Amino acid sequence: MVNLGENSHYDNQLKGLPFSAHPRIEANGDIWNFGLHPSGDIVLYHLTANGRAKQVNIVKSNFSGVLHDFLITARHIILVLPSLKRDMTIAGLFNGIYFDPKLPMQALVIDKNTLTLSRTYELPPGMVFHFGNAWEDNQGDIHFDASLYQDFAVMTQLSDVMQGKTFEQYSDANTHLFTLHKQGKVSQHNFTDSSEFPRVCHHLIGQQNHLLFYTSNTTNSVWSDSVVARNLDTGKEDRFDYGADYLVEEHIPISPNHNEDQGYLIGTALHVPSKRTCLNIFSKHDISAGPIARAWLPYHLPLGFHGNFIAA
Ligand SMILES: [Fe+2]
Repeated sequence: MVNLGENSHYDNQLKGLPFSAHPRIEANGDIWNFGLHPSGDIVLYHLTANGRAKQVNIVKSNFSGVLHDFLITARHIILVLPSLKRDMTIAGLFNGIYFDPKLPMQALVIDKNTLTLSRTYELPPGMVFHFGNAWEDNQGDIHFDASLYQDFAVMTQLSDVMQGKTFEQYSDANTHLFTLHKQGKVSQHNFTDSSEFPRVCHHLIGQQNHLLFYTSNTTNSVWSDSVVARNLDTGKEDRFDYGADYLVEEHIPISPNHNEDQGYLIGTALHVPSKRTCLNIFSKHDISAGPIARAWLPYHLPLGFHGNFIAA
């Protein structure tokens, strides 16, 4: 059990507060995170690289849906609240949560220095689990990407699939690029291919990225069969399709020289017919050429969601 307040002036005050599974680690090592309390209070954390609390604050909201991931820029935290509501009369963690197609998503822009709300934006209704990255330009406009769903059907589909049910048509997310203009306007652009588990090079978290890496599917299914590098400036995609025999998990870009265009993309895939997992390494600048190296396990790893790379 970790006490985040230990060795800080918060001492035991942070015990029991929610702490999401999606911290963002800045290039300098600082750790940022949020935690949504059922009351709607959102706890914001700024921690040192070794996990000591530097600053913690609470932003009030009346949101009680699912808040899975968030974003940072050099100066701000961005929380995007999906178009979800909760029926408190229904028991269970997710059972009472429903999508409201008339409810705009809300983007809360929070000052990283004070952990207080700077401004809010209304976005079209939608649902997001994962974001790749956010960054801020010289005008103070904030840019970010999201793997955006049009509703919350994916949640029930995932639980139904686990019970052996299949569907004619699965809900897919697509990459949407949002700009929160400093003067209050919101603009967006989207790509039509499916996308989930978006990632950017670690050294660019909160800074401008040009490449976005994500998993995708070419045949409509609940799981991915492809991996994509998308150039966000030109729109050009570099895609590798593993084929229908594979379930493709999150792939992670690695930049040994802090050069976005160089290095590798690494990720696991389950080969369904042989029930074995393989680890795949791509050249980041030529994904469509396929893996430059592949290591097979003699067995399968349990399907996971996220991956991480730790240099030895
Ligand atoms: Fe996640």
